[in-house]
Amino acid sequence: NMKKIVVLGSINVDTILNIARLPLPGETMAMSNRSTAGGGKGANQAIAAVRAGSETAFISKIGKDHAADFMIDTFKEDGLNIEHVTEDETAGTGKAYILLDDNGQNSILIYGGANQTITTEDIKNASETIASADCLITEFETPLEASIEAFKIAKANKVLTILNPAPAKNNIPEELLKLSDIIVPNETEAEAITGIKVTDLDSMKKAAKKLHTMGVKHVIITVGANGAFYSLGEEDGFVNAFKVNTVDTTAAGDTFIGYLASALNSDLGNIEEAMKFASKASSITVQTQGAQNSIPYVKNVKI
Ligand code: RIB
Ligand code: NA
Repeated sequence: NMKKIVVLGSINVDTILNIARLPLPGETMAMSNRSTAGGGKGANQAIAAVRAGSETAFISKIGKDHAADFMIDTFKEDGLNIEHVTEDETAGTGKAYILLDDNGQNSILIYGGANQTITTEDIKNASETIASADCLITEFETPLEASIEAFKIAKANKVLTILNPAPAKNNIPEELLKLSDIIVPNETEAEAITGIKVTDLDSMKKAAKKLHTMGVKHVIITVGANGAFYSLGEEDGFVNAFKVNTVDTTAAGDTFIGYLASALNSDLGNIEEAMKFASKASSITVQTQGAQNSIPYVKNVKI
């Protein structure tokens, strides 16, 4: 029984600039390499879900340009349902410029482009796809109104909703938090939402508690190379990350989410097991440079 997953989110072509360190203001510096990879949080999550073995539909928007053709080719190769990936006539396909230093640390600049033109009308057009899914995932590289509309349709049809509140944002509408079954922030995003600095188990518990009081049922806080914490309210726990040689963390969180959604039972009864599996998948993603090209296929994810 294949999981049915829908992802609403962004498409970006990533330009990766390899640099020794970030330039200082006013400084001109040579980079050691420059390359292109498919990216965008939504697209990465959808690709992770489909590679994890789920029947996956993607809701997004692209421009009318070469970047769009490049992205669509990957989606087709992976067998993603792109019926609801539509074209915007004027905005270009989204872009991300990733400054990647020698320690694997990244800084990212985003050009939203077509991603920012997704409307509630686009979501309504995909309502049957959402209603028939097991799980809907969204993030913050597309307009909030669209996410809220999608989550409303999902909850009206008993579809599990997963919110990845990335890139970090504060003042998330209470309505969206209340429609979220699971929120999956990293430590920076958890702090942006709760105001609580996440440094250790104690602060993770505090941040999770705050998120519960804000209306989110279940919380998973990812803390990179350390692992991930979960709180179901009455029960919580921590899953360690796999120790690997990290080259580029881009799309690690997206891989975690796509794999988690694919592995998680609807009653969340296997949450620790699903998190371990998701964390194994993202430990593979971080070992290769680039987003989509580094997301593993399920046959290569063994615990
Ligand atoms: O989460 C990683 C993604 O964030 C990159 O692929 C980049 O496109 C940015 O959107
Ligand atoms: Na990678």
